[in-house]
This record gives sequence, structure tokens and C-alpha cells, in this order.
Amino acid sequence: MARTGERRRPGRSQRPAWAALVLGLLLILLPAALLARPVAAATTVRVLMPSPFVDATASLVADFNRDHPQLQVEVARGPLDTEAMSDLAIGGLLLGDTPYDLLMMDVSWTAKYAAAGWLMPLEGLLGDNALEAMVPGAREGNAFGGHLWRMPLNGDTGLLYWRTDLMAAPPGNIVELEAVARQLQAEGKVRWGYVWQGRPYVGLSCVMLEMIHAFGGQWWQPGSGRAGGQTQLDSAGAIAAADWLVHLVRTGVSPEAVADFAENEALQLFAAGDAAFLRNWPYAWREIERGGGPVVGKVGVTTVVSAPGHSSGGTLGTWGLSLLAGSPHPREAAEVIRWLTGPETQKALVLDQGYAPTWASLYEDPELKLKHPLLAVQRQALEQGPEVRPLTPLYAQLSDLLQRQVNGLLTTDGTAAGAMGKAQTQSAVLIESAAGEHTASGPLLKQAVSKSSHASGRLQAQRRQGVA
Ligand code: GLC
Repeated sequence: MARTGERRRPGRSQRPAWAALVLGLLLILLPAALLARPVAAATTVRVLMPSPFVDATASLVADFNRDHPQLQVEVARGPLDTEAMSDLAIGGLLLGDTPYDLLMMDVSWTAKYAAAGWLMPLEGLLGDNALEAMVPGAREGNAFGGHLWRMPLNGDTGLLYWRTDLMAAPPGNIVELEAVARQLQAEGKVRWGYVWQGRPYVGLSCVMLEMIHAFGGQWWQPGSGRAGGQTQLDSAGAIAAADWLVHLVRTGVSPEAVADFAENEALQLFAAGDAAFLRNWPYAWREIERGGGPVVGKVGVTTVVSAPGHSSGGTLGTWGLSLLAGSPHPREAAEVIRWLTGPETQKALVLDQGYAPTWASLYEDPELKLKHPLLAVQRQALEQGPEVRPLTPLYAQLSDLLQRQVNGLLTTDGTAAGAMGKAQTQSAVLIESAAGEHTASGPLLKQAVSKSSHASGRLQAQRRQGVA
């Protein structure tokens, strides 16, 4: 035993203990070093979204990336408008070199994108029952040809906004709506009665779909053939729908300017206190409340109204995530879909943006019930059966034909029967020319995407600007 003060030099007798220690350490550390894999590189899932969704999800995506160092989400900003957004996406898809794994898709794109082979089916990754816990209306428009192509992030439908300070209750049908609007205009309480989307774009097709059903008609009769059905735009209901809208403009209930209104223009006019009624999507309520204008606290929201004796749901306007064919990491992309469309993310988006959720459980959530007054009407709109736009690869072109004719009617002195007759004839010709095409690369598809032939150039330009 060494005594204090005695210098200890490593002697023969101590070497074995020292060597054993080093050997021990080597035995512990070496295998660990040999077995340790190099740190796996993070997988990045790239998502293209319309501009408003990029802003709405920015902080959620930042949180996700912080919590998942091995799975990063990179979001690219697309345009706001659904048609411009689709053009941008299709430009990349036609070039065959899209840099994205996921695409945020409007409900009206599903059939076209699926038929073109641009998407991967989701049921294998998310399960056959992926939509089961959603409210019925939100499940619509996500499947086509027996596969699931899209998971909805919101359950939006068209809604009717009304002024609680100007009337005791919302109108029960379109006759009441028009009467109340006229009376309030006559009393000088509002300049305009009813504002909606009349610009020749897909928003006008959404308004028309609601109105056609509101008068007992239908735009689309599903059936056989490559297009998957037929249009019924010259039916009495469809003509009455166009007639009522043009009558509102010609008699001054709606301003002539609705012929150039998209969602935002109509919203601004209503938010400024200049109209009694507004047709818009769920986001409008938060937007109006946040704007701090004269109608804050004076806005009620109800389901869209119909002609007496008929009933119409609001147009289904959901956005959802789809997996692009060719994504190098479909499993990780599916994980991002699960998270971004999942109940937690949706809850945050309801509170922050006012979107309608798709999960039935969120309609029972005590915090949402307390903080989001639109929840009950949103559920009612989804459950009473929202109107779904024609589920056909030809939808974009059919929508184009309808919106042109109706917008033309708003700005000329033509008749509703004439305009709707033309829309029907043109739609039938389009469907006929598509009949007999059986391959995704055949003329039907070429025609369906020809609207986007200018998109490649736009995509290149946007890439140069760092947008895409
Ligand atoms: C909203 C809806 C979408 C619709 C579009 C029309 O973005 O969510 O479904 O096609 O408005 O403008």
C-alpha cells in the first residue's frame, strides 16, 4: 500500500491494471464505433400549395420541422387562384420533372389528375378507411375510379353571410332573401342587397352549381362513357338559376360589378357594410372579424338558400393533399399527409383561419365549440350534402364553358335560356369529342390539359423568380 508522500511510479506490478483499463475501454468503445451507422440524412418532403395555405400553415410547418429533424417539410408558394395554381402544377407534371412530392389540390381537380396518371393512390399508404372518421360531405371528391387520391385538409362549403343588425333572422329561401335585400336598399340601410362571385372563373361555376340545385336542376348527371356523365344545363332548373342571377343584376339587387367579382371583391364590399348578404367560403368570417370594419360583430352565417320547395347544399370547396407519382419517398410523404391533414393541424387551422374541419371529432371539441361560432353551421352544410362539382376529367373545360356563358349573360342583354342552351350544346360537343378515348394519353387528356399549354413557360418564369 502506498504511503502519503511517496512518489508512485508505474511499476511492473501496476501495468496489468492500467492495460486492463485501456483494453476494457477499447472493448466498450470499439464495437460501438464499428456498429454505429453514419447519421442518416434527413428526408425532405416538398409540398406545393396555393399562397393562402402557405401562410396559414407556416408556423405549424416550422414546429413540425423543429420536432422532426429526420423528416423536413419544404413548402413552395403557388398562386392564390385555383386555376392558376392548377396550371402551375400541370406545367411541371407535363414536363415530367416536378420537384414536388405533394400537391395541395382543389376538390375539383381529383378526376383529371387521377385520370392523367399524375397521382399515386393513397389507400395502400393510409389504409382503406382513411376517410371513415370524417363527416360525410368532406369524404366526397377524394376518390375516383376506385382509388383514394387525396386527403382533405378542410371541409369548406359555400355559405350565406347576413347582417344580424339589419334583420332578425336569415332568409329561409331566395324569395325572402330578395325581398329583405330590396327593402333594406329602399330604406337606405345598404347600397346593395346581395354580392357574390360573377367573374368568369371557377368561382362563378361554384355559385352556379348551388343555384342550379337551388332551382331543382343539376349540372351533371353521372353516367357511362369516358367523361363519366352528361351535363343538363338546358333544364328548367338550370335556366331558372341563371335567370335569377341575371335578374338580381338587372334590377339592382346585385351591382353590375359582380360580373368582375371573385371572393375577395365580394367580401370587401360586404365587410365595408355596403351589402346585406354575401355568398362566400368559411374563411370569410374570420377575415371580416379581423378586418375591424363596420360590420364586425354583426355578421351571421347560414347555409345557402334555395327556391321555395327545393333544397341545395353549398358547393363543396375542400382543399387536400395528394401524392404525386414519381415522388422518391412516398412513405415519408404519406406521413406528412397524415400530419398536415390530421386533427391537431386542422384544429389549429380552424382557430386561426376559420376553415371547416373534416374530422367528425373536431365538431365535438369543447374548445372549438366555444371559440368558433361557425362550427354548427359548417357541420350542417357538410351533413346535408354539399354539391359536388362534376367528377370528370373534363371538369375544368366544362366549368370554362359554363362560366363564360353566365358571365356573358351578366354583361349583355341576352336571355338565360339562350346562354344555358349554348352552354349545354358546347358541353355536349366537348363530351362527345371525348367519347371513345380510353387511354390517359389519348386526345381526351390532351384536350383536358391543353388549357395549360402556356403553363410550362409560366413555370419556368416562376422558377426563375424562386416561386416554384
Ligand atoms: C375556393 C374553394 C375551391 C373553389 C374556389 C373557386 O378556393 O375552396 O374549391 O374551386 O374557391 O374560386
